[in-house]
Amino acid sequence: MKTPLIDPFARAITYLRVSVTDRCDFRCVYCMSENMTFLPKKELLTLEELDRLCSTFVGLGVEKLRITGGEPLVRKGIMQFFQNMSRHLDAGTLKELTLTTNGSQLERYAADLYSAGVRRVNVSLDTLDEGKFADITRWGRLPQVLRGIDAAQAAGLRVKINAVALKGFNEDELPAITAWCASRDIDLTWIEVMPMGDIGNEDRLGQYWSLKDVRAKYAEHYTVTDLAERTGGPARYVRLEETGQKIGFITPLSHNFCESCNRVRVTCTGEIYLCLGQEDNADLRAPLRAHPDDDRPLEDAIRAAIDLKPKGHDFDYSRQTLDGQMPRHMSHTGG
Ligand code: GTP
Ligand code: 5AD
Ligand code: SF4
Repeated sequence: MKTPLIDPFARAITYLRVSVTDRCDFRCVYCMSENMTFLPKKELLTLEELDRLCSTFVGLGVEKLRITGGEPLVRKGIMQFFQNMSRHLDAGTLKELTLTTNGSQLERYAADLYSAGVRRVNVSLDTLDEGKFADITRWGRLPQVLRGIDAAQAAGLRVKINAVALKGFNEDELPAITAWCASRDIDLTWIEVMPMGDIGNEDRLGQYWSLKDVRAKYAEHYTVTDLAERTGGPARYVRLEETGQKIGFITPLSHNFCESCNRVRVTCTGEIYLCLGQEDNADLRAPLRAHPDDDRPLEDAIRAAIDLKPKGHDFDYSRQTLDGQMPRHMSHTGG
């Protein structure tokens, strides 16, 4: 057994999020600019390299692997990758293999994901209104995503909806989205919009809807009880007494959860990011490519990077001016 990954603040790193592509078939306004240019293919880790990279992390004690993007299901050959990763589930070294998706391809892939050992998917969905959905994703089609969610549930996958809370956009839909999730036994988590990527013409600060206010909005409609439990992710939970539903809140800005952080991220080009909200990163692609038959240099590079993990993020809306925005896109780091 190799020494597990422990960062300088004594946090064990057991959760790896890997972005397998920066591409996406949508262009959500808070995530990408309309004329986003994507990376040339040769920059991306190949599926074989991704396999080696993830397997090395599993060898170092990572128990939860979340595949993200961009949209992970638009990467060619990705189902074979999932299928290959399932060997770590079978071996009992990996406890969970999962993904975060926009749902557009789920109708096609849900059954294959289940047979690769995936049991849970997080689907990003901010509105149930077809017109608003087309606006926020710039060209996504809501019915396609809803069919994808149906397919996922029919295949036996547990579904969680991630909704980005946006003032003036989905504020009024909170009761409808909540009831829709309850009627389908779907979990729901709200995320505060984070200052990442180009702002373009979008007024991200104006859209910021604090989850404290979202909670207050719930309190207008339901009896809300705070729950102490944490699930290893960044979400805190409340229960709505009338429906029994558990609602998650991911609040990087109004309540920072860094002290219990257990994760690192790897981009589709093989950079490891130690925190979503900071620029500290290290290149893993070079040791991966330079030593195709020896994992040791890669392991050393991973350990050296973990030693740089910061105590917490430094998101701060006061820094978010048009020329002081965070340049990195969520689609690069994978959310
Ligand atoms: P579960 O396994 O269901 O707990 O998933 P998760 O919340 O870890 O993953 P998901 O992809 O659903 O994450 C939802 C969103 O939460 C991400 O896309 C980010 O926007 C945000 N998020 C997750 N982890 C972090 C983190 O460490 N820091 C910050 N600032 N935001 C995070
Ligand atoms: N702020 C908050 N969440 C974001 N996501 C993408 N960009 C942002 C942002 N700027 C969310 C998506 C998805 C997850 C992967 O990240 O909606 O749920
Ligand atoms: Fe695509 Fe997700 Fe970004 Fe929307 S938030 S453009 S679905 S990667």
